Formats: sequence, C-alpha cells, structure tokens
Amino acid sequence: MGEGVSGLTVVNGLGRYPRTRPRRLRGAEWSRKLVAETHLSTSDLVWPVFILDGEGQREQVASMPGVERLSIDLLVEAVGEAAALGIRSVALFPKTDPSLKTSDGREATNPDNLMCRATRALKAAHPEVGLFCDVALDPYNCDGHDGIVKDGRILNDETVAVLLKQSLVQAAAGADVIAPSDMMDGRIGSIRDALDGAGFEHVQIMSYAAKYASAFYGPFRDAVGSGGALKGDKKTYQMDPANTDESLREVAMDLDEGADMVMVKPGMPYLDIVRRVKETFAVPTLVYQVSGEYAMMKAAADNGWLDNDAAVLESLLAFKRAGACGIFTYAAVEAARLMRGC
Ligand code: PBG
Repeated sequence: MGEGVSGLTVVNGLGRYPRTRPRRLRGAEWSRKLVAETHLSTSDLVWPVFILDGEGQREQVASMPGVERLSIDLLVEAVGEAAALGIRSVALFPKTDPSLKTSDGREATNPDNLMCRATRALKAAHPEVGLFCDVALDPYNCDGHDGIVKDGRILNDETVAVLLKQSLVQAAAGADVIAPSDMMDGRIGSIRDALDGAGFEHVQIMSYAAKYASAFYGPFRDAVGSGGALKGDKKTYQMDPANTDESLREVAMDLDEGADMVMVKPGMPYLDIVRRVKETFAVPTLVYQVSGEYAMMKAAADNGWLDNDAAVLESLLAFKRAGACGIFTYAAVEAARLMRGC
C-alpha cells in the first residue's frame, strides 16, 4: 500500500491525486476509444416504421420531424436503404384506414391487412432484414385501446383470444418476431402455444414486458391515427410509472410463458428498469426510445437548443450502457449515417 493511499481506495482501484489523474486517459481520442466500456453499432438498432395504404404515398408525421408514414412500395425502398446502412431489423406499425376500425378490432386478424401485406413484401424484397410485428388492437380498434372494450373495461381473456389470431396471421405472412405490446395478462403463453401448434415454433416472441402508462407515447398515437380515438387512458393495463419491483414480476411471468426477449418502454426515463431487468434475469433486454422522447430531442434541436447529432448518439449509447442489447429508435437511419460518417 503506497504512502497516502487508504485501503478503501486500493480496493476501488483508485490512487490519489497527483499520481493518479483520471484526465490522463481522456487526453486523446485513441485513448478514450481504447478504454471505452460501451459500444454502439448499427446492429443494435431496430427501426420502427409506419405503414400507409396505397401506392407512392408518403405523409409526414407532424409531431415527429423527419418521420414519415410510407406506402408499402416506398417502405420496401426505404428499408433497402436502411439495410445498406447496416440496420438489420425493422418494427412495423400500420395506420389503418378509419373505415376498417371496429369495436372488436377484427381487421387485426385479416391475413390481407396492411401489416401482413407489408410483411410479405418486405420479406420478399429483403429476406435478411428481421421483421418485428406489433401485436395489439389499438391500430384496428375504434376505441384506440390495445384490447376489446366493454362497458368501459378492457377485457383481458377475450382480447388474448384475438391476439392469438393476430399473431398467427403475422407469422404466416413472414414475421420473424411477434411483439405483443398490449400488456394483457397471460398473452405470451397463449401466443407461444398457438404459434407452436401451427408450426411456427421458430418464430420469436419479444414481449413488451415492462411497458408503462406513459405520456411519452403521444406522437405515436398521432402517427398510427389512434390518438384522437382513444377514450380514457391505458392505466388499467400498462404499468404505473411509480413502480419498479412490478416490472420484475412482469418480466418473470413473460419469460416463464416463453418470451425470447423482453422490452422496457419508454426508454430514457426508465434506464433504471433496463438495468434492473438485465441484472436480474440476464436475458436479451431491449428498450424503446419512444415517440415523445424523439419529439423532445427534435424540438430542442430544431430550436438550436441541442446539438442534434451528438444528442442522438449519446442517447443511444446510454441505453447500451444501461444494459440494453437492442434499441427501437425513430432515429435509427440518421444514427446509422452518423456512425458511418455519411
Ligand atoms: C400500442 C403501442 C404504443 C406504442 C407502441 N405500441 C402506444 C401505446 O401504448 O399507446 C408507442 C410507441 C411510441 O410512442 O413510440 N400498442
């Protein structure tokens, strides 16, 4: 033990100033990169995209600068460009024509719905790109809820029965990952059994296991056109932002029921949950940088209050540092360009 160095500082691997100067390692780029503990790569990114009916159609999402809804033909092109930049997976979200929305959300189980047509087209054009298909009723339900609503209540088991059928049409269309974002109880086990029974045992399930009832989903609801329709809130099925132990119970249940990967959502305000889930279960843990987080960054950057490029990359690196293996982000394509320097 050197002079002036206490037992505690030796245990912590720290010496004492002026012999030890943490700034020494930060002095040059090569050195900072050499000792970096976390790395971000384009393989970590999952790009969520919004699909529109028709051909040659593109629409800006007003509350998400730089994000567009695309018709299938344009989406196929855009995903090809993203793949060329190193993005390996995409998550699909449809904007359903209001005339197809019903109180039972039956369009969700139509094998020719927008989601299934997009899945088939993308799999045909870009078979190497992983496709995450969202399972929930909100894009198809005239109440804007993720489940079936009766007398103001969101029915659990009746909803799960529909989600099974939705999962099966998506798997048949070519989904690589079924991604239930609905937060009904027991849906992972039921979906796993249904997939296995239909010969889709190779299809993965990524459960939105710790999904919070968050104010940060607002712009997404504009993007899929469910926001105006939403009656009330989602607090009877999505988690209370006050809770963390509960997220561990949710994740434990979903893993027990057969989830291959779990998701924590939203992202930036919930990094403590990402860390706790990862440390407790040591399973692939993804995180969603949701629409409101994206909108906040863009609004600040557009006002000149934040350096957009630096803020985007720092926010994504922080998810990796917290323990996430994958990040859903609307900034995936711009981040890939930044990482590649193009
Ligand atoms: C609903 C769903 C939501 C998001 C993904 N799937 C919104 C909600 O729960 O109301 C939000 C994603 C985002 O805000 O970017 N099934």
